[in-house]
Formats: sequence, structure tokens, C-alpha cells
Amino acid sequence: MSWIAVGLKKDVPPGIVIPSRLADTELAVWCAPSGSYHAWSDRCPHRGMRLSHGFVRGNTLACIYHGWQYNEAGSCDYIPAHPKLTPPDTICVPTYSCTEAGGVIWVSLEATDQPLPELGGRVPVRSVPIALSAENVAAHFGAGSAPTVAVVSDHDTVLALQPCTDTLTMAHVLASPDADPKAVSRWVEDLRATLEGVPA
Ligand code: FES
Repeated sequence: MSWIAVGLKKDVPPGIVIPSRLADTELAVWCAPSGSYHAWSDRCPHRGMRLSHGFVRGNTLACIYHGWQYNEAGSCDYIPAHPKLTPPDTICVPTYSCTEAGGVIWVSLEATDQPLPELGGRVPVRSVPIALSAENVAAHFGAGSAPTVAVVSDHDTVLALQPCTDTLTMAHVLASPDADPKAVSRWVEDLRATLEGVPA
């Protein structure tokens, strides 16, 4: 199982949680004040509220519904309605491997010994949704199957492809530190229009 990009570091600063997804797996991606990144199942073990609707409180993620708090290992360690109770170990959120490198947040849904994708010193520019499958986006660049990262000659750009659904891919765009971010942004908008078959 390889690492797949689920967001850019600049969009998920410490103290922020966002929704994300990899195919059928809905994720709550959050950054603790310590700077460590986490990708969890986006369902609270209590009543199933989306944890991505919650909030970061210290080094825990708190559910917005009844306030249960989950530590960085995904274990519940505080229930506001029962403040003296030590929650049982069985109350925990499914967690996935998650790390940040090169300004990109990477997730693997299974244990992996794969190295993180090589970005060649490129830096994040922006994330762009494309209404196509990751396979079809990759095919545009001659890749046989959906790669985690497609190296594109235009602007010496890397696209880290996030397969969201069968008809939606998030392309996280990275470019040389010397590249003009506005030019890269215009290029990727044109690319999206070309791939989707609509005017830019
Ligand atoms: S649903 Fe999350 S605390 Fe109740």
C-alpha cells in the first residue's frame, strides 16, 4: 500500500480538523498543536457524528455532539457527562498511518513500508478538484494505472492524486520553488478544463 496525499499542510495548520476521503473511506484529518498529523475514520464511536465537525482541544480531537475527547492514539480519554470515569480501552477511533512531508499530508490506509513519494524539492501550490477518476487523470499523462504522483513536464510540476470517488480526484499541485505560482495555478485550471471537457 502506498502513501496517498489527502491535503496540503498549509490548509491544515495546528488546531484544525478537515474532512477528506480516499475512495470509500471517509477521513477526519487533523493537526495537533504539537504539529503531528492524524487521519482517522470520520465517525465518532459514540453515536456516529462526523469527527471532522469537531474541534481540536489541546492534543485531543473532541466530538461536537456530546464532547467525547479522543487522544492522539484515537482512544477516548474524557467523557464530559461522566468526568470522573476512565473510559474503557474499547472506545477508540480507527486510525490510519499519517504523516507530513514536503508540505503534503500523506495517508496509508494499511500498514506500509513504502517510502514517501519523491517530490524533488518541489513545493505545494494548491489543491484542485477534477471531476474524473484518478485513473483517467493519470491516463492523460500516459500512466497505466493511477499513480500516487504524476510528474508533469509543464512547469516541472508534480500532481499528487487523491482518488476521492469514481468521478472525483483531488490533485495536489507542487512546483519548483522558482516557478510563478500564478502561472502554475492558471495551468492547472486549464488542465482541469481540458480533462473535464469544459471551457476554462
Ligand atoms: S456522537 Fe460523538 S460524543 Fe456523542
